[in-house]
Amino acid sequence: MSVSQSAVELINHLDRDYLRQALEHDVRTGLTSTPKWLPPKWFYDAAGSDLFSQITRLPEYYPTRRELAILRERAADIAARSGADTLVELGSGTSEKTVLLLDALTAAGTLRTYTPVDVDSVTLGDAARRLTARYPGLAVRAVCADFERHLALLPRTGRRMVAFLGGTIGNLDPVAREVFLKELRTTLRPGDSFLLGADLVKDTGRLVAAYDDADGVTAAFNRNVLHVINRELGSTFEPDAFEHVALYDVQHDWIEMRLRATRAMNVRIADLGLSVSFAAGEEMRTEISAKFRPEGLRKELAAVGFTVSRHYTDPTGDFSLVLAGA
Ligand SMILES: C[S@@+](CC[C@H](N)C(=O)[O-])C[C@H]1O[C@@H](n2cnc3c(N)ncnc32)[C@H](O)[C@@H]1O
Repeated sequence: MSVSQSAVELINHLDRDYLRQALEHDVRTGLTSTPKWLPPKWFYDAAGSDLFSQITRLPEYYPTRRELAILRERAADIAARSGADTLVELGSGTSEKTVLLLDALTAAGTLRTYTPVDVDSVTLGDAARRLTARYPGLAVRAVCADFERHLALLPRTGRRMVAFLGGTIGNLDPVAREVFLKELRTTLRPGDSFLLGADLVKDTGRLVAAYDDADGVTAAFNRNVLHVINRELGSTFEPDAFEHVALYDVQHDWIEMRLRATRAMNVRIADLGLSVSFAAGEEMRTEISAKFRPEGLRKELAAVGFTVSRHYTDPTGDFSLVLAGA
């Protein structure tokens, strides 16, 4: 389905039926598993995206500032090396950092098309309209899609650079990550490139603080998934009866966000005909955010056929941007 919103093209692969079936499947699967879990993509309705934007400005949340610092320094080099006329961005959100890439590709004289891809159609449409106004000569073709399911449906014309920023790759577990990278690699042609933003392993205290800020914004973001399920599936979660938990798993090198039941309770999910009980103190995993080592990243990319041409980091070595060729 394709709709034109004030000159912005928005292709939607996530119509209501698809979204509903996917949410029903994930909630049923996750809440009947032991331990319980929910996938992070359901954080992101318009309210969740807004909370994530607030997180990116928190003093504890270093990744956005570090990735911005790398882009300020290296966007021109990335643009020149990629030679891209089409920038495709997976999990683009508000596309705030992307303007640095769009400016650099415009200055290089190659840019024609920007294709932001996100599950949150509201934030996607807002970003697409903003960027259409800011870059009058640019074709902005927004695609509302799930990057774990719809890579093969993304436009394939032009010389493309696919950007996947913000460390979102870390939300995929190692198996899902390999599947995702393999699929992405098969959609790219010689001359296309992949720009990957990945957070690096560092001091545990700083990592945990980045996911457990003093103002409780990340806690509100975490609980937002329960508001989404209540609204969409008629469930009776009391979000305030769940505590936000963030911990670092040194064995897997990832942050885990969880929601901990503060008391025993039963939750009814009307639209699934499902009742789920939580014991007092029971924890449900809502997100992992894997942290990487440069050599590990290079190996994972090489294993699926990418060749890393540049590995950029910020001066503190907190975050990395990898440019790889297809
Ligand atoms: C951690 S935020 C990063 C946003 C932005 N790229 C940045 O660097 O600030 C993750 C983004 O990916 C989107 N997202 C999460 N899961 C997705 C999926 N499976 N398919 C498409 N978009 C997804 C979210 O809506 C959100 O905008």
